[in-house]
Amino acid sequence: MRKIPENIKFGVASAAYQIEGGWNAADKSPSIWDTFCRKPGAILDGTNGEDTCKSYEYYKRDIEMIKFLGVQIYRFSISWPRILPEGFSNKISKVGTEYYNNLINELIANGIEPVVTIYHWDLPQKLQDLGGWANPEIAVWFEDYARVLYELFGDRVKTWITLNEPKQFGVFGYGMSRFAPGLNISGIAEYLVAKNLLLAHARAWHLYDKEFRPSQKGICGLTIATDYREGETDFPEDVITGQEAMDFEVGLYSHPIFSTEGGFPESVIRRIGQKSVEQGYPRSRLPELSKEEIEFIKGTSDFYGFNHYSTRFYTRSTYKEGTFPVPSYEDDIGGVFSLKDYKPAAIIHSTAIPAGMRKALKWVKDNCNDPEILILENGFGDLGGLEDVDRISYLADYINSMLDAIEIDKCNVTMYTVWSLMDNFEWCSGLRIKFGIFEINYDDEERTRRPKSSAFWFRHLVATRTLDH
Ligand code: NOJ
Repeated sequence: MRKIPENIKFGVASAAYQIEGGWNAADKSPSIWDTFCRKPGAILDGTNGEDTCKSYEYYKRDIEMIKFLGVQIYRFSISWPRILPEGFSNKISKVGTEYYNNLINELIANGIEPVVTIYHWDLPQKLQDLGGWANPEIAVWFEDYARVLYELFGDRVKTWITLNEPKQFGVFGYGMSRFAPGLNISGIAEYLVAKNLLLAHARAWHLYDKEFRPSQKGICGLTIATDYREGETDFPEDVITGQEAMDFEVGLYSHPIFSTEGGFPESVIRRIGQKSVEQGYPRSRLPELSKEEIEFIKGTSDFYGFNHYSTRFYTRSTYKEGTFPVPSYEDDIGGVFSLKDYKPAAIIHSTAIPAGMRKALKWVKDNCNDPEILILENGFGDLGGLEDVDRISYLADYINSMLDAIEIDKCNVTMYTVWSLMDNFEWCSGLRIKFGIFEINYDDEERTRRPKSSAFWFRHLVATRTLDH
């Protein structure tokens, strides 16, 4: 039995495109995911998020479920094209505003604190047509969008998350074709958008800090996919490969914002620079950040938003130069995943390696100036079923590892959020992969929601603040 520290808030999370449905309700315009899902073969099971959990209609039921769990917070995201159908802030949707006002008010009436993600991957298609995150002007468009949200909802929303997992959609959406918009220009596009995303985030944070924080008194930051990367063996070359993989996978975003010196990590600058020269580019494929930009981005998060699922082991020993089409992101990292500890039965990133949670938290403490850490996602994907014992053991083992990080390593964790409240549209894996602690019946027009064993388990944990491990 382990006691959960008093200062930890518990929550559950979701995101607009994954749960809302109502993809063309009222004046909402299409997002890049509405477009992407129509591409043949883009989504593994051929489904889409056009209806999904229908939370646009049934959000009150979601709130009943959250209340049942007894958690203090609900993390959800706002759909940019539902609030700003033109993409720009010249036109604010009345119906969209009303939807989020209702949701926020109902949460607060039920004693649940809203934690709001400003951008969880559903860019207005109109902005994508102008280049999306590859167009540097998007930093201004994003700041304008953030201003609208602070003005509309900031009287009640006190925790803002500007961007959800920027590296994931930068790499999968711009460098590869797994996520919208599916640009697939590897080795170039993910770095180009990294710069624009960092500047967009920093603008939204500065705006909040200067103009809204004095009266609204909230906090603002971003959440970074912080899966752990480690060398396959203790041989120095593997150890370094693991560390450099962390720099690419996490440091690309965490270093410019949280480190003392700012800017991209040294190993990322060095590796991409060297490769670019070898490949005949006149300069590095990694865009430069000016001194002013480095200063502008540094220190722009009031907390470290931590999303964590699994750990991967890297090695250079079996890595062959040019294995990937050059240039490419994988080739820049210069290592390959080893299969050590990889459980083939596990689905996508839900390979349970709980010790990695503690190591990743410690990495954040050591590399990001010992920030306050909000765990904004941790969860387990499977193929469904109400008796989800694998999910319960995953969550228990990971919470146990989090407690090690808090008690032994003195990591400053203040929030733990389960991904996800209910089964939903799991991006390119479609509706087939299920992360919910509540089940959704997609065959039923009303999308009946039922608690899985993990919902009862989590409710008990929250009520007793004790982990039975
Ligand atoms: C990361 C993303 O933020 C979320 O949208 C996704 O569903 C989960 N991880 C699970 O893959």
